[in-house]
Amino acid sequence: MTKIAVFASGQGSNLQALIDASAKGELPARIELVVSDSRGCYALTRAEEAAIETLVLRPADYGSRSHYEAVILEKLLELKIEYLVLAGFMRLIGPTLLERYPERIINIHPSLLPLFPGKDAIGQALAAEVTETGVTIHYVDEGMDTGPIIAQERISVNPGEDRRSLEGRIHALEHRLYPKVLKQIFTGGNANGKTRTN
Ligand code: GRF
Repeated sequence: MTKIAVFASGQGSNLQALIDASAKGELPARIELVVSDSRGCYALTRAEEAAIETLVLRPADYGSRSHYEAVILEKLLELKIEYLVLAGFMRLIGPTLLERYPERIINIHPSLLPLFPGKDAIGQALAAEVTETGVTIHYVDEGMDTGPIIAQERISVNPGEDRRSLEGRIHALEHRLYPKVLKQIFTGGNANGKTRTN
């Protein structure tokens, strides 16, 4: 059973999907820890309800990113965490964690990267009036949503579709795709039939 830490800053609906998939035996992983930079976010409530240990660290309380990440790293090593799974974590990951977890930090992003990286990818896609968008799962590097792509799935944007509807469909896709692709990674298979690009 792969030991993972999930990093989240917000609603935590992807965290919930991973908790549920793990409980159902669909994801061969144990979520040992939820890391957050945001006290009071709903992801932490979900973790507590699932009896998962939480680590909440506010960057403002640390002098530098390397110090901030060193404190997180200490906990990850103590718990023997093998993979870091980002699920709505709103911070860039720095060298301290990247060097210790090469190709073992994974993120999900609600667009077909390299299109629409960064914040509000769904709003960016709607503003660009694209006819299709989707979800990308990728390895994390030092950039913003720039790491090697592991899997993508596309959906069409319906004519006149509003944000609420598109967001709902993208989230539903994320909740299905993330556990499936993580399972393939943890069991050594190729995710989504795609060749790993790294
Ligand atoms: C998701 O859309 C994810 O792709 C992005 O942030 C959002 C997090 O949503 N990175 P939630 O907190 O999992 O509900």
